[in-house]
Amino acid sequence: MKPHAAAASALAVLFLLIAASVGAATLTKAHHALSSYGFPAGLLPSSVRSYTINSTTDVFSVDLGSTCKITLPPDNYLATYSKVITGKIVDGKIADLDGIKVRALFRNWAITGIRASDDDLVFEVGMVTAKYPKKSFVEAPYCEGSKPAAAEI
Ligand SMILES: *[C@@H]1O[C@H](CO)[C@@H](O)[C@H](O)[C@H]1NC(C)=O
Repeated sequence: MKPHAAAASALAVLFLLIAASVGAATLTKAHHALSSYGFPAGLLPSSVRSYTINSTTDVFSVDLGSTCKITLPPDNYLATYSKVITGKIVDGKIADLDGIKVRALFRNWAITGIRASDDDLVFEVGMVTAKYPKKSFVEAPYCEGSKPAAAEI
């Protein structure tokens, strides 16, 4: 490889690393906990402030610091996360969920539970369910309006 070609490819690698580091938000304890229960980290925005779980009751609480709006993949529904999200989590199943609403068909629907299978997530809105591939939720999204300026490069 000629010297200038080597320099060019080193630069390319550097740009890729920078792009990867500004594009992916730092994962918190809450995101890692989600993964350990079989859920993708991208179910929670990057703005997690604190997370607690009661190991006796499996009841968790996630504090996002403020409400958070996210456009959910893959259908671009607008989701609103309350400042505090609570629920009960066990392997592959989140129940009694409180704090996540999705705008669809001109109204807000509270997501009451989420189940995880090998490749899919099943969102429960009361008795109604909707299935989406897990791979749409790999990266923890930024809340709308709070994306760091560096990520705009
Ligand atoms: C967990 O929940 C149980 C039952 O409500 C309660 O008695 C216990 O104090 C809680 N543990 C913690 C660490 O909060």
